[in-house]
Amino acid sequence: MTDGAGSIDPARHVLSLLAGKWLTAAISAAASLGLPDALARGPKSLDALARELACDPSALARLLRVLAGEALVRERADGEFELLEAGRLLRREALGRLACYVGSPLGWDAWSELAWSVRTGESAFAKRHGAPLFEFLDRNPAEATLYNEAIDAFAQREAVALADAYDFGAARRVLDVGGGRGGLLQTLLARFPHLEGRLLERPAAVREAREAFARAGLAARCEAQVGDFFEAIPSGFDHCVLKHIVHSWDDDQATAILARCARAVGPEGRVLVIEGLLVRDGRRSLTNMLDLEMLVLCGPGHERTKPELRRLFAAAELELVDSQPLSETGRLFVTRPRGDARDDARTIPDPLRA
Ligand SMILES: C[S@@+](CC[C@H](N)C(=O)[O-])C[C@H]1O[C@@H](n2cnc3c(N)ncnc32)[C@H](O)[C@@H]1O
Repeated sequence: MTDGAGSIDPARHVLSLLAGKWLTAAISAAASLGLPDALARGPKSLDALARELACDPSALARLLRVLAGEALVRERADGEFELLEAGRLLRREALGRLACYVGSPLGWDAWSELAWSVRTGESAFAKRHGAPLFEFLDRNPAEATLYNEAIDAFAQREAVALADAYDFGAARRVLDVGGGRGGLLQTLLARFPHLEGRLLERPAAVREAREAFARAGLAARCEAQVGDFFEAIPSGFDHCVLKHIVHSWDDDQATAILARCARAVGPEGRVLVIEGLLVRDGRRSLTNMLDLEMLVLCGPGHERTKPELRRLFAAAELELVDSQPLSETGRLFVTRPRGDARDDARTIPDPLRA
């Protein structure tokens, strides 16, 4: 933002940053009202849209003005509102369910205690809701659905990117550790018809995944197993996938999960880790912001820098064989169990060496 002479106007900059709260709330409200889906069916007048969404017309007009200012909708010359390209991403089948979650009490309330989390290093979510995130979700099915749908919306792009980026041709059996409701496995098994998959998850996610696998006609090739990755990880799989799992845990816990996966896939297997990379170059980064989300939600859980990930893999007896970006917040790290006997172990260049 410049003042015309090319320099940044600090007051405008700060006010515009603070207005982020209003924008996030406006976008989340639009998504939860179903506004993007209603306009995706065709342009509408204010009154028609208000009737369809059961809203007060003048309040809806105020919301639409803010959305128009962000190029999400546009008021046409005939007075009807239409959805613009970025607004289409807020439909339920795209990022709409993520938008609903972000502005919901579940996604929003604990953030008012961010300063407390920064002071203590502890999870504001656990303070606010009386239980760590995943235990709270186990006990609150409606909130669990809201959270899981948000994660699915967020994760779908990464699932497709993983199927594009990694050659599963030589893989046979893939275990998705903490794979939510199984969206990643559905994408992989649809793309690679020779693959078999298994999901390891908490009970509620397993119930939903089983139904999803059956609906997708994948039940014969894909199963869902209730389990705790701190207790046991089943063997018999040549690939383990851990997508946005290790960032929820401190180093000792993350190492324990990774080491178990390393043992489960055996010497020739691969452990595919998908995580964001923290950057320390002063630039705006979604992963750096997601790192604050991890602080609020999980306390000691955090995103990691290259050296931190390198140390984590080494502690879990894994070596990194490849790394590439998948999305704005996800990078694929292909690792394999470290084998001292393996001849080429020392010849692989470190993919994270800048
Ligand atoms: C941030 S979500 C990531 C979901 C999925 N991998 C993705 O990227 O879309 C973390 C997942 O870990 C699961 N989880 C948490 N604790 C677990 C445990 N002890 N054992 C198995 N799964 C667990 C949660 O239920 C949740 O679905």
